[in-house]
Amino acid sequence: MGDNQAILKADGKDITMPVRSGTIGPDVIDIRKMYGESGMFTYDPGFTSTASCDSAITYIDGDEGVLLHRGYPIGQLAEHSSFMEVSYLLLNGELPSTPELSDFSRTISRHTMLHEQLMQFYRGFRRDAHPMAIMCGVVGALSAFYHDSTDIADPTHRKISSHRLIAKMPTIAAAAYKYSIGQPFLYPDNSLSYTGNFLRMTFGVPAEPYEVHPAVEKAMDRIFILHADHEQNASTSTVRLAGSSGANPFACIAAGIACLWGPAHGGANEAALNMLQEIGTPDRIPHYIERAKDKNDPFRLMGFGHRVYKNYDPRATVMQKTVREVFDALKVTDPVFEVAMRLEEMALNDPYFIEKKLFPNVDFYSGVILSAIGFPTTMFTALFALARTVGWVAQWNEMISDPGQKIGRPRQLYTGSAERDYLAIDKR
Ligand code: ACO
Repeated sequence: MGDNQAILKADGKDITMPVRSGTIGPDVIDIRKMYGESGMFTYDPGFTSTASCDSAITYIDGDEGVLLHRGYPIGQLAEHSSFMEVSYLLLNGELPSTPELSDFSRTISRHTMLHEQLMQFYRGFRRDAHPMAIMCGVVGALSAFYHDSTDIADPTHRKISSHRLIAKMPTIAAAAYKYSIGQPFLYPDNSLSYTGNFLRMTFGVPAEPYEVHPAVEKAMDRIFILHADHEQNASTSTVRLAGSSGANPFACIAAGIACLWGPAHGGANEAALNMLQEIGTPDRIPHYIERAKDKNDPFRLMGFGHRVYKNYDPRATVMQKTVREVFDALKVTDPVFEVAMRLEEMALNDPYFIEKKLFPNVDFYSGVILSAIGFPTTMFTALFALARTVGWVAQWNEMISDPGQKIGRPRQLYTGSAERDYLAIDKR
């Protein structure tokens, strides 16, 4: 490799491929012409070595534990910014001025209500339905209600649908929760902040005024910031793949929600808290660490390890600090926090975790905070989906606006039967 090109020797031929550089991060070998010239595909299940697109939104250096949104470090955004401001940044590329931010926040707040008919959908679900099952259905159904913003070739439609998705997600998630506990839905209150409004719709009741706890609002807003985007992760790639066929944005985000639901992705914070509760007391930790190391045991330390971070996940650092703030503000004492801290310490000193570069990820502590705030574990992934919607929408918009965009269509290494003749049933 050299002079901005890479040479592949295949079948006695030299195939030259351009090497492209980004602003920061590893170069990429552009293999688009490779099949045409060599007759061979590349093979990379799980995309461990494959960049699927150009993107100017989020940068991660997993070895160094760096996460930047539009160039700004996540730690700085979590400390000084707000979820609305980060949303503007992700969508537009720059931090907003004061009037730009208040304009944006006002626009989002004007889209928070759901079509009344859509509210009827909820009654079709069982009360014990998982909120993510409801979210997949209701978000997908948005495309049946907002026809005036589904023309993906029209930038105004794209903008309105993006705003609608960001604005309605808290209403949808809160209603999923309310439905599961048999309480009436609350309409949005646009005098509150994005996050304050969500807390009220979730924990308020029509019979009483609801006062947003400032420390909880701040912590929740920060949790939303930490989950807002994470470059080409599984759910974002799902949104892009769904969108590459020209599907409308509501359908694409519903696809992202479905992908996020899995325990290896967004479901991990639910799994991490369940695990911490199952461990229960610090003296039981060594047993679980041994299980995680045992190749014959499928158990893994949930909230540990990451496909990209081979260092401390920078979001986990902020999350750990936020746990303390929430616990102090709400005067909570929960043994799971103690278990989490001790487990982290023991795992980080264990050769197995050191050698495999397994560190706590964002999900390790988020469940502990969300539970202290009062969310049941089943809501954790729904909150992740709510916050990630802005990232999905920003990535979807970036893809649709790219003139070189093509339908996503991976190839395969076929390992099934070669061609054979059909056999009549009595001859099999
Ligand atoms: N506990 C114990 N061992 C682990 C863990 C873990 N949490 N994670 C990885 N390993 C081991 C694997 O057994 C494997 O060992 P081997 O090389 O001896 O076979 C090695 O580390 C590499 O693991 P892979 O699964 O190949 O790594 P991959 O990059 O594919 O997986 C993943 C990353 C899915 C996150 C994995 O670390 C995991 O399952 N973690 C627990 C679930 C979790 O916390 N997910 C949240 C991800 S963050 C997010 O979605 C926001």
